[in-house]
Parts: sequence; structure tokens; C-alpha cells
Amino acid sequence: MKTILVTGGAGFIGSNYVRQLLLAGEAKVVNYDALTYAGNLENLSGCENDERYRFVKGDIRDRDLVRQTLTSGGISEVVHFAAESHVDRSVEGPEAFVSTNILGTEILLEEARRAEVERFVMVSTDEVYGSLGDAGAFTERTPLAPNSPYAASKASADLLCRAFHHTFDFPVLVTRCSNNYGPFQFPEKLIPLMIANALEDKPLPVYGDGQNVRDWLHVSDHCRAVDMVRRAGVAGEVYNIGGCNELKNLDLVGLLLDILGKSRDLITFVPDRPGHDRRYAIDAGYIRAQLGWEPEVSFDQGLAATVQWYLDNQGWLQAVRSGRYRAYYEDMYGRGGRHDAGEGEG
Ligand code: NAD
Ligand code: DAU
Repeated sequence: MKTILVTGGAGFIGSNYVRQLLLAGEAKVVNYDALTYAGNLENLSGCENDERYRFVKGDIRDRDLVRQTLTSGGISEVVHFAAESHVDRSVEGPEAFVSTNILGTEILLEEARRAEVERFVMVSTDEVYGSLGDAGAFTERTPLAPNSPYAASKASADLLCRAFHHTFDFPVLVTRCSNNYGPFQFPEKLIPLMIANALEDKPLPVYGDGQNVRDWLHVSDHCRAVDMVRRAGVAGEVYNIGGCNELKNLDLVGLLLDILGKSRDLITFVPDRPGHDRRYAIDAGYIRAQLGWEPEVSFDQGLAATVQWYLDNQGWLQAVRSGRYRAYYEDMYGRGGRHDAGEGEG
């Protein structure tokens, strides 16, 4: 049985991926995660008893620990999720994004190459392509044009992957996915933030005119796509992943309020995110044609199930909404913050 190193496995998508891998039963998993504010071992509760699962608390920038982990555990493949992932935080402080997303990826690539890892999947994002007008969709040939410090740091990491493949023939594969939603998403991101606020009858802060478009995909479909790429993708290739499921933010927030039976009066327009990308849409034709991937979760079902998950897991939500996240939220949205949303948020 092969052993896969998953970085960032305690985060939103990483924890869903680790669960999916363990359920498939074909591999052992080493979850390497620094447990930043976004990492939460509760996302993996139950897995700790699985003998095929091991957790290493570590930073991808810690070269010695990365090397030790890669060389001592019989690891043959790496799936790299670990990142600073929130655009707003990258606007407030880009340095952590440069450090983790670029330098951390370089360290992982270099140590994985030296350890003769056989497959390295870089989990990237559609944000590296920049913003679209009213028509069209990103293909793998769309030029990189990142707009936020987050997107620029991910694009830089993608280019390092490209260089490691070109220069060293290191078997790197890059995936670029659109916006994910589903269980265990940290409530700084649009969907869980809006659900959490609505549950407390707090204002729902919609940036700008709310007409920005995102292309939503259920996290389980993203994880299946990443795993198909890991198993059957061609080294050196890029695979776009997306659900053909575009929605304006304002419409999405309205849908959430309808599902929750709350009034749309909770919607509050706040100043726009600086440099806010207007529209994302993914053309997933290549992964469909090459690997036979299709999304399985319809948006209506997925969104309703996601809302239900947050309703059923309010203890989880409360725990992550306390502590450091609270301070961040107050700074971002509270009185005097960039998006002063009124009511003394938190
Ligand atoms: P997340 O913020 O929920 O989780 C990130 C995880 O990485 C956390 O567990 C955190 O502790 C860990 N981490 C952060 N810095 C680290 C470091 N220096 N060393 C080790 N671990 C570290 O993020 P997510 O939303 O699950 O995204 C996972 C990956 O998928 C990211 O690379 C992101 O760019 C990419 N992605 C996300 C989406 C999305 O919609 N969320 C879409 C496309 C791609
Ligand atoms: O497209 C993939 C990307 O999707 C990933 O690479 C990122 O890691 C992930 O965070 C996500 O980025 P976005 O910036 O699109 O996601 P976010 O949930 O922050 O915002 C979604 C949209 O909602 C965006 O247009 C901004 C808007 N928004 C967001 C928040 C947090 C609001 O209107 N109000 C808010 O409070």
C-alpha cells in the first residue's frame, strides 16, 4: 500500500481529501499541517484511530522537518494543499502568502525531488488567471494574470512547479479549481460566513454591488478530481476543475437566506474588496476528456446539504468563530474596520 503525504490536510479541502483517501482504502496518509488559524484537527475527528493515518504537525517552510518526513515515512506521492488561502487576508498582509505559498512550495518541491517522490500534485486555483468579462471561461491556455497577492503567490508556486518539471523532469501535476463549498469550510469564506451570520441574525456583508460572479463546486467533486489527477494525470500538465455553475454573489446570498428561512433584509452592502475580481468561470473540458471527471453533486443538493451540515455542527462553528478568528473578524468588519458592518460583529 503506497503512502501519500498530504500537506494542509487539517484545512477545509485537505481534510475532505484525507477522509476521501481513507475511505477509498488504497493508501496510507501522512497529514503534514502547521495548524495555522485555518487548520483544525477536529475536521478529521475519527481519523486519528485509523492505523493508516498519521499526523505530523509541521510547517512546509521547515526544510529539516519536511526532509525528515519525506525520507522516513516511505512516502511515494505528495498532494500539496497547504497554503494561506484567503484573499482578504492577502490584501491586509501579503508577506505570509509569499512565505508559505511560494517559499513553502519551493521547499516541498526541492525536498520531494531529492526524496525521489514519484508524483507531486500542486493544488492551485483559477484565481491565477485573473478576472473575466461577461463571456468566456478560463482554459489551461489562458495566460496567468493574477490580481491579488494571494493569486500572485499561487501563480508563482505554479511557475515553480512548471520549472521543476522542465528543469529536473520532476513529475509535477497542477490542478486549478474554482470556488469550493461544503463541510468544514472556515467561516471567513463567503458561504459559511453568511450562514453563520444569518443564524445569529447579524448583517451579511456583501462586497460592492454583489454582482461579482463565482463558479461553485462541491468540495467532494474537487477532491475526486484531484485524486484522478494524482492517479492518472500526465506529469507536467495543468488540469482546470470547475462545475459550470456560475452565480452572482448577491443571488447566492439570497439563496442561503431562503434555505435558512431568514429575511433578505439581513443583506448589508459594504465597501468592495480592493482589486476584486469580477467574474470567474472554468472550462473543465480537458479533465473531462482526458480523465473522465464529471461533477456528481448538483448545486441545489450540495448547497442544501451544506447549510444542513452547518446547522448540525454549530459546536464546530462556534469553536472556530471564537479566539483568533474573532479578533480578525472584528478588525475586518467591526466598528472602524474596512467593512464596518454595523452591529459590533463577532
Ligand atoms: P484552508 O485555509 O482551509 O486550509 C489551509 C491549510 O493549510 C490549513 O490546515 C493550514 O493549517 C495549513 N497551512 C497553512 N500554512 C501552512 C504552512 N506554512 N505549513 C503547513 N501547513 C500550513 O484552505 P482551503 O480552502 O482548504 O484550500 C486548500 C488549497 O486549495 C489551497 O492551496 C488553496 O489555494 C486551494 N484552493 C482553494 C479553493 C477554495 O475554494 N477554498 C479553490 C481552489 C483552490
Ligand atoms: O476561485 C478559487 C478561490 O476561491 C480560492 O483559490 C480561494 O482560496 C478561496 O478563498 C476562494 O476565493 P474567493 O475570494 O472567490 O472566495 P471568498 O469566499 O472570499 O469570496 C467569494 C466572493 O464573495 C467574492 O466575490 C468576494 C465575496 N465576498 C466575500 C466575503 C468573505 C463578499 O461579498 N462578502 C464577504 O464577506
